[in-house]
Amino acid sequence: PRTPEKPVTAFDRTLVTAALPYANGPIHLGHLAGVYVPADIYVRFLKSQGEDVLFICGSDEHGVPITIAAEQAGVSPKELVDRNYPMIRDSFTALGIEFDNYSQTSREIHHETSSAFFLDLHASGVLEQGSSLQYYSEENDRFYPDRYVLGTCPNCKNEKARGDQCESCGSQIEPEELIDPYSARDGAKITLKETTHWFFPLGKLQKWLQPWVESHPEWRENVRNYCRGWFESGLGNRAVTRDLSWGVPVPLPDHEGKVLYVWFDAPIGYISATREWASEQGDPDLWRKWWQDDSSRLVHFIGKDNIVFHAILFPAMLHAHSEDYVIVDNVPANEFLNLEGHKLSTSAGYAVWPVSYTHLRAH
Ligand code: MF3
Ligand code: ZN
Repeated sequence: PRTPEKPVTAFDRTLVTAALPYANGPIHLGHLAGVYVPADIYVRFLKSQGEDVLFICGSDEHGVPITIAAEQAGVSPKELVDRNYPMIRDSFTALGIEFDNYSQTSREIHHETSSAFFLDLHASGVLEQGSSLQYYSEENDRFYPDRYVLGTCPNCKNEKARGDQCESCGSQIEPEELIDPYSARDGAKITLKETTHWFFPLGKLQKWLQPWVESHPEWRENVRNYCRGWFESGLGNRAVTRDLSWGVPVPLPDHEGKVLYVWFDAPIGYISATREWASEQGDPDLWRKWWQDDSSRLVHFIGKDNIVFHAILFPAMLHAHSEDYVIVDNVPANEFLNLEGHKLSTSAGYAVWPVSYTHLRAH
């Protein structure tokens, strides 16, 4: 029971989110140690102090990692995520991690919420249109994401450089620079084609973001330093649409073949999952109390590779929205867990999987 003389927070309620794991494979020990167990401990602590808490998570089901995993499995992206969703959800349950809602970004409510968010920014004139050159195949008549493309590094001449980065020398590569690009999936010859996208003006928002981050001296040093690094190099505008077939379609006329960038739609998934929860409570407007009321507090538990999205991009998106949103109060980000000196990785299949210990627990 709450002791009103000694509240743990200065707020009436706390919304705790845990990063939405990609539904491209099972979660592993690194995710659990870095994000989900710390978040669960924090939620249990707040509840034990009588605080009003909501714990939100779900599957991140768009983006290129999902389409790659689906192709490898020989199924459609939707089949893949619907197969992985119950597996991931059940491993959290088996470990005793209890979310108030564990949703999916491929659901209707998320498509609706993220489309409306995009349209709000578009209608207020926040988004800017711009064009860039993208990898394209004439014979297949489609654009290719950077990481589907291989070629020769302009810097070190490594012949297996990726479309966005050379793993040998570490340099970032622009589409115009990669030599003799070809598709890593089907060998198709790649050329460049101009494509038009919508950009979110992070550059303009830096003057709001920087003092806001500095107003949080209680944030972890790693998070603050990481943000300062970004501010020092100067924030650039970010494309928030992509030429892909899997994702939330850009909700504007004449935008066939374009979807929202996964890092634009995924954090909005926290809002969609809260809306879904509210509907399940029989009070569809209840989500507003958590997201649009000054007396609510928002905390994002994440891994360190997610800092820029949760401490910079998503806060800026919420700030730019025409309605007032609660903006994150703290971003506890953890370092990666290493196993014998290597980072754990789902896509590389290098990890300790929950089945190993939920099985042990049952005996
Ligand atoms: N799927 C991302 C990852 O595993 C995290 C997404 S968090 C969200 O790194 F905010 F975008 F939802
Ligand atoms: Zn190189």
